[in-house]
Amino acid sequence: MALLEIVKNPAEILKKKAAEVTQFDNNLAQLLDDMYETMVENDGVGIAAPQVNKSIQVAVVELGEERDVLELINPVIVARSEDTETDIEGCLSFPDVYGDVERPVYVKVEAQDRNGDLYELEAHDYDARVIQHEVDHLNGILFDQKITKTYTLEEIEEMYADEEEEE
Ligand code: CO
Repeated sequence: MALLEIVKNPAEILKKKAAEVTQFDNNLAQLLDDMYETMVENDGVGIAAPQVNKSIQVAVVELGEERDVLELINPVIVARSEDTETDIEGCLSFPDVYGDVERPVYVKVEAQDRNGDLYELEAHDYDARVIQHEVDHLNGILFDQKITKTYTLEEIEEMYADEEEEE
């Protein structure tokens, strides 16, 4: 496995719709493993291939308290709730940018796994948010366009400090 370099905003590749994956081979498996390692190393909960300079429909996310790894290849959101929620997001391609983003609280996604097998997954709350953020990346949509309120790094650190005190 290898750590990959993360592409930062305003790189053009981040704004392009990524190409469909058609080859489910060792190169794809290697990319998925490297993306996972890169995400963990950078304390991310999701990463999309354009963020490691590959304009293809591949994303890796961690879901739930168990931080289960989910690999999304050619994902499509096929259903979403009307109910939305606003919460803070960050992005590995935007160091030190944090902001409120409103998103549906539920999504159903169809995707392929690393073998090319189709699967369907329903996600709620923060998991749904992470999936939507990554699927946006694959469509060239970046979270900064959706931010309704930005926070400074100091404000974010204070919030986390408060949370820890409450626990
Ligand atoms: Co991102």
